[in-house]
Amino acid sequence: MDIFFHEKTKLFHLCNDRISYIIGILPNGEPGQFYFGKRVHDREDMSYLVNHEFRAMMVGTPDDETFSLEMNRREYPSFGTTDLRFPAFEVIPENGSHVSAFRYVSHKITEGKPKIAGLPAVYTEKDYEAKTLEIMLSDELTGVGISLFYSIMRDYPVITRNVVFANKGSEEVRIERCMSLSLDLPDHDYTWMQFSGAWGREKTPVEKKLEAGITAIGSLRGHSSANHNPFVILKRPNTDESAGEAIGVSLVYSGNFLTQAEVDTYGMLRVMTGIHPDRFSWRLKEGESFETPEALLVWTGSGLNDLSQSLHRLYRKRLSRGIWKEKERPILLNNWEATLMNFTEESVLKIAEKGKEAGVELFVLDDGWFGVRNDDFSGLGDWYVNKDKLPEGIAGLAKKIHDMGMKFGLWFEPEMVNPDSDLYRAHPDWVLASPDRERSLGRHQMVLDMTKDEVQEYLYERMHSIISEAGIDYVKWDMNRTISECYSIGRNASEQGMTYHRYILAVYRLYERLISDFPELLFESCSSGGSRYDAGMLYYAPQTWASDDTDAVERLKIQYGTSYGYPVSSMGAHVSECPNQQTGRICSVGTRGNVAFFGTFGYEMDLNKLTDDEFAEIKEQIVFMKEHRALIQGGDFYRLISPFEDNYCAWMVVSEDKSEALAAYYRILAEVNPGRRRVRLKGLDPDSLYRTDDGEFYGSELMNIGIEINEAPDVIKLPRGDFDSRVIHLEKISK
Ligand code: GLA
Repeated sequence: MDIFFHEKTKLFHLCNDRISYIIGILPNGEPGQFYFGKRVHDREDMSYLVNHEFRAMMVGTPDDETFSLEMNRREYPSFGTTDLRFPAFEVIPENGSHVSAFRYVSHKITEGKPKIAGLPAVYTEKDYEAKTLEIMLSDELTGVGISLFYSIMRDYPVITRNVVFANKGSEEVRIERCMSLSLDLPDHDYTWMQFSGAWGREKTPVEKKLEAGITAIGSLRGHSSANHNPFVILKRPNTDESAGEAIGVSLVYSGNFLTQAEVDTYGMLRVMTGIHPDRFSWRLKEGESFETPEALLVWTGSGLNDLSQSLHRLYRKRLSRGIWKEKERPILLNNWEATLMNFTEESVLKIAEKGKEAGVELFVLDDGWFGVRNDDFSGLGDWYVNKDKLPEGIAGLAKKIHDMGMKFGLWFEPEMVNPDSDLYRAHPDWVLASPDRERSLGRHQMVLDMTKDEVQEYLYERMHSIISEAGIDYVKWDMNRTISECYSIGRNASEQGMTYHRYILAVYRLYERLISDFPELLFESCSSGGSRYDAGMLYYAPQTWASDDTDAVERLKIQYGTSYGYPVSSMGAHVSECPNQQTGRICSVGTRGNVAFFGTFGYEMDLNKLTDDEFAEIKEQIVFMKEHRALIQGGDFYRLISPFEDNYCAWMVVSEDKSEALAAYYRILAEVNPGRRRVRLKGLDPDSLYRTDDGEFYGSELMNIGIEINEAPDVIKLPRGDFDSRVIHLEKISK
């Protein structure tokens, strides 16, 4: 890994074993994008990549009309002179002009990777793991400076980027747009893959061939949302899971975002991601600076599994923090689907005891333990224990759970308030709301104005005191409505464009304070399932409740779709009751377990209601998961058959040293007299012999001949029915 700088030509080359990223200085003095992709040779002069030409309708620079920014690839494009494509940023001084001229002034190359104040970011543990290039630009007229930060990671085919604006001028400016990353590519022969959905059906891959014009996704909901995810893939037409070129673009941020691709009339492609410019306007006073969130670029020449694995490893090892990031996650039992809010200490303890008997390690008490909270119409915001349900308080219950030998976890939804709550009655101005207008409700609740110090302090005090008094081990941090009327009461009109971003900074701040107070606490983030499942959240909470849809068959798609961008160790996945509460589907406990194994794993039901046989099976599942979770949560995940395209789904995990693997396949609907079907495994050592339940095979056999996945059901005995599945353990026995 290195960053080369050629003084004479002002050429920067960031590279590691796999990738190169090359930046030159264009004739107008601003940085240009010369190359991003597979590692190439370093050389001093690449000025052949600068275009000088004369085309009809082209706008050129006055001293050289053959030079137009629109005909060139730029690193951080402005708008309004010789390039009229969508810009990456706009800094507007008091005179209202959108025109700027940011030119290269200097640069710095440093070991390691700097932190971003108040925002989540990839980090290094040792300086030699990354190098950082800071390119300083300045606009002479306004005195504003822009620093473009690029870090190249030694062990990942990843470039991280972010931008800092510094107002060194003598008047206030407004930042109207500040993407974290803009990447101009020389052609657009890519298929764009986005991950879209809704509540209960998160992260469905959607593919579009890029054509002239704009392709974009985003969120103006105040959270990254289940509608679209701040992660996209650009893949070449012939790229599949195991071969071909692709670029991943991920924004490490949990608020409003825009990810956009623009194909211009000459076939060049401009990709950008960052805070959504709509509803954003940041006042930058003299002497102030503003940092954008971080964005990541990941590149592969070896197919989508490789791309995903690079991100998975990076997120596990250098984005998630704390003691839990790579630790085996506790097998949990959550009472939500078992009781909803109708529980007493006694009923909860009965469920927990059965969990303990099954081998569960963490009992989680979900919504309904505070205020007057018997349904979702009231109580949110009143973070004082409901003594009718829990006479000995959370501390009393936690002690009993701890005495049983389990950890204790608790649900919070700090950012919200019901109008029917003591908190709202006392502080009606603590919510985001437009002055003198109706206040919209979502799940009968409003959003607290997290940007207000008094709100932050109230929540911090309440959470801190409950967590410390009861010795809580795990917090499920929920966020169950989209933000509307994002207006901060009491602030100036000119500051309202800052509210969405300030909101998410305040959420991060609250997380950060609790993390530093309770470094051993395990956080699971949640937003009605996966509505805030993004790289930003993984910095604070290493796991996320992937979806409120707990149906195992539906979960195949949700977990498969989620795996493109996020690691198995981050996917909250539980076995829930049957028939399933969301779909009414009847599915064996075996298949429910076989799906939930590929996640953080737990149960979301009253285990007392199971038959003896089912309970015995659950005990076996827990033994199985304890034995294999290090492999599942720390191994390399391979997608094998997509449930979006097939009646089958298959995936597997392989340990880093290839000594062990677990492969799973799922047949969704039963077939009579089916055709033959084999799946080829991946990621094994071709020359090693592996022991499986079906015999011993070389890795090369398993990866090329494959395994049969639709043995004919035995119609004479018992057909196996719908939603059948199998998990196969493979262990290397010799080289
Ligand atoms: C959300 C979560 C659920 C549960 C409920 C409680 O919907 O996603 O898992 O915690 O809230 O109200």
